[in-house]
Amino acid sequence: MLVRGDPIYIRSSIHSSGKGLISILNVAHIIGSKQFDQAALGELFASAKEMENITLQGGSNLLAGKIMCSLFFEASTRTRFSFESAMHRLGGSVIGTENAAQFSSAIKGETLEDTIRVVSGYCDLIVMRHTEVGAAQRAAAVSTVPIVNAGDGSGEHPTQALLDLFTIQKELGRIDGIHIAMIGDLTYGRTVHSLSYLLSNYKDVKITFIAPDNAVIPQGVKQFLDEKGINYEETSDLTKAAETVDVFYQTRIQKERFPSLEEYNKASGQYIIDRQLLDHMKEEALILHPLPRAGEIHADVDTDPRAAYFRQAQNGLYMRMAIIEQCLRAK
Ligand code: NCD
Repeated sequence: MLVRGDPIYIRSSIHSSGKGLISILNVAHIIGSKQFDQAALGELFASAKEMENITLQGGSNLLAGKIMCSLFFEASTRTRFSFESAMHRLGGSVIGTENAAQFSSAIKGETLEDTIRVVSGYCDLIVMRHTEVGAAQRAAAVSTVPIVNAGDGSGEHPTQALLDLFTIQKELGRIDGIHIAMIGDLTYGRTVHSLSYLLSNYKDVKITFIAPDNAVIPQGVKQFLDEKGINYEETSDLTKAAETVDVFYQTRIQKERFPSLEEYNKASGQYIIDRQLLDHMKEEALILHPLPRAGEIHADVDTDPRAAYFRQAQNGLYMRMAIIEQCLRAK
């Protein structure tokens, strides 16, 4: 049953009510993490689990005849391939470009708004990654089909945060009460912003932010956590924090977003997860990373059962199947 026009939420799928999709001009979008509440997250997790079963059984034709456009203005491996694979696994088809900055009319000076107006006439859903904060919001303002924000500069990356949380739930069996350390580039790392917002939906969560001095968590994220009453701290002692942490969320220093190479060099190499650190971690801790890594988790950590980042990347497929299904049902 599809209902259009709800000011905030749109009912969507056979699996779920579709809570969490934000509606602009009667189209449901995923722009940022703040749009999800706990009920919406629970529905997405249940759907993602179902998508895992569907995948293990060889896929489905649920979305036959539907077309997804992947419009990537920035580099991507996991996000784009998992979205495209997700669409294929559900029987839909994909158009797109992995280098929209060069291979779309953007290079001829076309505005993002014009590109979206045109492309939304050729497909049922647009998954977009862009260099600028707020680009997904701008796209949604003119699109006739759902926009899924696959990363907008150093702003947000909500679908990554959804799969991160799904992974925590799957691996630890709970989200309430966890102590999570977010490590690395907390200024420009959009996944950290989105994950912090999502975590504010859960009880007794504690967040420890560990970052180089020139890559600390933005004031706006802290203000949001304050408003939600979330317990957080900032520290520089990773080894000490390690003793009580349930989830390590390590991130890459976002070289491409630093104002200068000098600033990047200052930030890089400070917080590393290596075999020595493993000795300070709880037995049942979890190590996550949105990937790609660039030296901040040593390869010899990979064989430790607590290293969950490749399982996390796999979960991205199931979560994105759930997301696509929900967006298309809502339309
Ligand atoms: C992240 C991104 O693009 O924000 N990667 C991803 O989508 N899995 C993290 C990064 O680039 O460091």
